[in-house]
Amino acid sequence: MPQDPRDAPDAVCHEPDGLLVVEDGRVVARGAYETTLRSFPGVAVEKLPGLVVPGFIDAHVHYPQTDCIASYGEQLLDWLDTHIFPAEKAFADKDHAAEVAAFFLDELLRNGTTSALVYPTVHEASVDALFEAALERDMRIVSGKVLMDRGPEGLADTLASGRAATEALIRRWRGRGRLGYAVTPRFALASSDAQLADAGALLSEHPEVLMHTHLSENIHEIAAVAARFPDSTDYLDVYDRFGLVTARSVFAHGVHLSDRACSRLRSSGAGVAVCPSSNLFLGSGHFDFGQADRHGLRLGLGTDIGAGTSFSMLQTAGLAYQAALAREDRLDPFRALYLATAGSAGLLRIGDRVGSLQPGQEADFVVLDCAATPLLARRTANADLATRLFALQILGDERAIARTYVMGRCAWKRTP
Ligand code: GUN
Ligand code: ZN
Repeated sequence: MPQDPRDAPDAVCHEPDGLLVVEDGRVVARGAYETTLRSFPGVAVEKLPGLVVPGFIDAHVHYPQTDCIASYGEQLLDWLDTHIFPAEKAFADKDHAAEVAAFFLDELLRNGTTSALVYPTVHEASVDALFEAALERDMRIVSGKVLMDRGPEGLADTLASGRAATEALIRRWRGRGRLGYAVTPRFALASSDAQLADAGALLSEHPEVLMHTHLSENIHEIAAVAARFPDSTDYLDVYDRFGLVTARSVFAHGVHLSDRACSRLRSSGAGVAVCPSSNLFLGSGHFDFGQADRHGLRLGLGTDIGAGTSFSMLQTAGLAYQAALAREDRLDPFRALYLATAGSAGLLRIGDRVGSLQPGQEADFVVLDCAATPLLARRTANADLATRLFALQILGDERAIARTYVMGRCAWKRTP
């Protein structure tokens, strides 16, 4: 499904008995089993035990918050101060960062996620640790040192050190493996005006990198942004004034957006990573799919671990359905699958390489088991495709991931 079924209802493509031909880690062909096999006589065939879909792509997640999931009691700003900033300080230690990065990437694979746009911490070594672990696993990971010169003691950079570390990392990691860089100002409140302007300058100086930040997540955060930037029309306008609203920009959340902000997101080509489990956990609200669709916004799906409560993109898609319904909108299972794969890939500007298993793309895919639990098996028995996919979306989690393939190689296999 290379296109959003919202815009192209015929984009949904399914072979009940299909063949995916992979050579040197890439999709060479795909189609109905018998006819496709005729074009590849003698090819070695492996039977896959379930529904094959593109590898999931998590469009917004924080690896250093892996051990902060389920931290009790606060909304965003207090949650950051109480639980998150203390934990992120520990990532000054490269060995600690490497241990968490390894667990985090293995957890992604266990959940069928093969690519992600990832927040590390302010520390340069936290990016090295993540990229080294991703390189070992040949995963397509985009990340970049967090910029936050207004951060707390022990978790702040400066204008000069933020720029120097960003440039060093871009230079060090350019063209290696399947990695990409994102200039990552934490959010408007964590950077000085000078650092936000410098982030905009870095983005324009490096046309191959993304920009990744948070936008309009929580009402108290939005009030604080309005108080600090009284001349800006709205939260998005703060970023816009510093050159941060572009077609390479990914904004997490966007729970509370004005129509003006939506129009500007649309005209800039920027994308929004929708993070429903996080929005529920922190009491931030429900993403407005109806508004986003009226404006034709480019959307992907993110877990936002550790405000998010699950690494599973199936669970995340299930909560996205519930968030949509809370506002009387619908998120059908085909569109949910699109958002978790090609939609997110589009945001990360890697949609030509992954996300829809088109011939020529990298062979990152997942085998989904519709009978992973007794309940799923009952609910999907004799069911059509839409029903099976929706059951996976609502009831599924990592138990439904039978196998995860990265570049055609099996990187995770569930024990039966
Ligand atoms: N806004 C700024 N930092 C963060 C973070 O770490 N998590 C979430 N959910 N929102 C943020
Ligand atoms: Zn986040």
